[in-house]
Amino acid sequence: MTGEFQVDPSWYWSRERAEQEWEHVWTRVWHMGPREEEIAEEDDVMIHTLGRESLLFVRLADGSVRGYFNVCRHRGNRLMLGADGPAYAPRFTCAFHGWAFGLDGGLEHVPYRERFDPAVIDDPACTSLRTFRVESFAGWLWFTLDDAAPGLREYLGPMADKLDAYRMERAQIVDYKTFEFACNWKTTLDAFNESYHFQTLHSEILAWGNEDAPITLVGIHSYMVNEYGRPSPSYPEHDKLNPALEMLLTVNGIDPAEFAGRADDVRRAVQDAKRAKQGEGVFPYDTLSNSQLSDAYHYMLFPTTHLNLFPEFYVAMRYRPHPDGDPERMYFDFIMCAPLAEGETVPPYEHRVVRGGEESIEDVLKWGARQHPVVNEVLGQDVDLVEHVQKGLRSQSFTAPILSSDERRIGHFNQTIDALIRGRSIRDLIAESPVETDAIPGD
Ligand code: FES
Ligand SMILES: [Fe+2]
Repeated sequence: MTGEFQVDPSWYWSRERAEQEWEHVWTRVWHMGPREEEIAEEDDVMIHTLGRESLLFVRLADGSVRGYFNVCRHRGNRLMLGADGPAYAPRFTCAFHGWAFGLDGGLEHVPYRERFDPAVIDDPACTSLRTFRVESFAGWLWFTLDDAAPGLREYLGPMADKLDAYRMERAQIVDYKTFEFACNWKTTLDAFNESYHFQTLHSEILAWGNEDAPITLVGIHSYMVNEYGRPSPSYPEHDKLNPALEMLLTVNGIDPAEFAGRADDVRRAVQDAKRAKQGEGVFPYDTLSNSQLSDAYHYMLFPTTHLNLFPEFYVAMRYRPHPDGDPERMYFDFIMCAPLAEGETVPPYEHRVVRGGEESIEDVLKWGARQHPVVNEVLGQDVDLVEHVQKGLRSQSFTAPILSSDERRIGHFNQTIDALIRGRSIRDLIAESPVETDAIPGD
């Protein structure tokens, strides 16, 4: 699919291209929105921004969730003026002229109602809040701004079954930060969409993980697998145990001093240890393949979400265009989720927007009991570079990236976006894009 295709660097900074993306991509696809538990109770409200749109998610009395555009039907003022996050509102009252809407979206109060044409002001089609579609999957509320889009399960295709095995609905948010970077949203996404940079940028990973991550394209989506417990062949003395592998053994209840296997055998030992515990705790060992027990499964749900899944926790990464429309600014949501054991608690997380580069990742991410310094370190290495990459993409000297087979997800991703901009529909692309055989056997 990526044979003749060339990624054009101007797609990472052109305003015209950003407008095309908004019209043909952002408003046509499914996006991962808030978690179910963020609006657990009746009348709970969440504000969530996607590019130029501010969106309201509301839990109704029957337990369903309704999505409203945060826009007054009178003359367009924003109804809720707060930042992204939970909001309290017994009704949505517009600060401009006082129109008030119930949480069911209906217009409940209009000052001087008699001054309006009854045929308009009494017609809910003219006055009720405009809605967008919301569906629940894996404990998240997903949404699309396209009333004609396929259903979410059809949109996700075989990826939905793969994600089901992780029982993500059992996990809750442990930490959530939003980073604001001076780069295109795709510049950050690309950095997390390939493993070719591991040997240079994250060389410490090579001690326990094979950076040669197998890739599988699944229609418009894709995933790669980072095998843990198997040192890279390029790691010095890769056939010997090292401190990182010993730590992997220890946390899985295996004494490294007693371990008779070679370095490459650690992965299988970790799988066996977790398999022996399946069904006991909160982790979904019983529904995962052997590979999923030990390895990081890194799923890309086209086009805005990465889920890097381990059995015990996962990291959701969401890429959003900036509300001001500048294609060289973006929001990067980093959301850590984990299932908690019975009686286990974690400190409440504090969501805030962090300007890229102003605070160290270690200072920003506070995971309480789930502290994970390796993820902090690796994430810091990635995000420290994205604004520099953006500057290079902007240079007149840079005419096209040269992609390796390890980076074929980047070509596939850009090719799917380009096809949408050229007028293909999501339905067409879902029907046409091949679903490859899993690149790594489950066992
Ligand atoms: S714009 Fe909302 S009441 Fe006028
Ligand atoms: Fe990275």
